[in-house]
Amino acid sequence: MTRRCFVIGHPIGHSRSPLIHGAWIAEHGLDGSYDRIDVAPGELAAFLARVRAGDYAGGNVTVPHKEAALRLVDEASETASAMGAVNTIWREGGRLHGDNTDAAGFLAHLDMSVPGWADHVRTALILGAGGAARAIGYGLKARGLGRIILVNRSAARARELALALGSPLEARDWSERHDLVAEADLIVNTTALGMKGQPPLELDLAGLRPGTIVDDIVYVPLRTALLDEAERRGGVIVDGLGMLLHQAVPGFTRWFGVTPAVTPALRARLEADILRA
Ligand SMILES: NC(=O)c1ccc[n+]([C@@H]2O[C@H](COP(=O)([O-])OP(=O)(O)OC[C@H]3O[C@@H](n4cnc5c(N)ncnc54)[C@H](OP(=O)(O)O)[C@@H]3O)[C@@H](O)[C@H]2O)c1
Repeated sequence: MTRRCFVIGHPIGHSRSPLIHGAWIAEHGLDGSYDRIDVAPGELAAFLARVRAGDYAGGNVTVPHKEAALRLVDEASETASAMGAVNTIWREGGRLHGDNTDAAGFLAHLDMSVPGWADHVRTALILGAGGAARAIGYGLKARGLGRIILVNRSAARARELALALGSPLEARDWSERHDLVAEADLIVNTTALGMKGQPPLELDLAGLRPGTIVDDIVYVPLRTALLDEAERRGGVIVDGLGMLLHQAVPGFTRWFGVTPAVTPALRARLEADILRA
């Protein structure tokens, strides 16, 4: 029987998940499908009831449903509960399970891009305090980093996130971000700034130490102005597309029982799609 999977959101036309999962289904010769489905907020509970009843093997959940989905699944992983959001759902024994794979995706890509990074990273600077910052702060804390500094335009949001995730996260003022560059071994942009259609990220990299890792999770464009400038100053750069690819792996493994690989060929397909955008 065809294993049917989905990505739900509202709107959903922009999602690149079908490209990723479709390529893996074809590569492994599986009897499966992965569709984009527009589900309005008022229809989420009814849609998930259909998943629970067996219409689908599972799928991904994106904006604006991630928080509501956490309340509607039967079992949430520890990570999803800590994130307050679910991005991956699967059916097991008639029950709906939910996980959040953003932290794992971020770390998997960082591990592949800069092997052994955790041996020399003591201080991380995270720009932003939204959903992605929460996942990355959580993931970096789990890896045992000594100091994780959050800066965000809305200061209260950074303070709340630092409090929620606990030590070693600390919140500092958005205006301090330029000076904090010199203290960081790893800098992560999790704001929407620098993304196509958004204002640029203003971050003075004059104090950047050569060898500092600069990771921008924005992936449209593939190469952001932040990454260009960081590389020019001797930084080690990591782009956002790898996170998107790696966060998809755990879901596919649950739905199809096969662990897919993030290959250069798959990455090239996504790059071509982004360049067309
Ligand atoms: N590579 C990946 O796999 C991946 C995964 C998830 C997200 N992302 C990307 O990460 C970004 C954030 O996603 P999210 O889910 O965390 O979104 P979110 O929860 O809406 O958070 C948005 C963040 O951007 C900040 N921001 C937005 N406009 C700003 C501005 N003009 N000036 C200063 N700060 C601004 C917000 O600050 P305030 O709190 O002050 O509003 C907040 O910290 C998006 O670009 C998204 O595409 C990439």
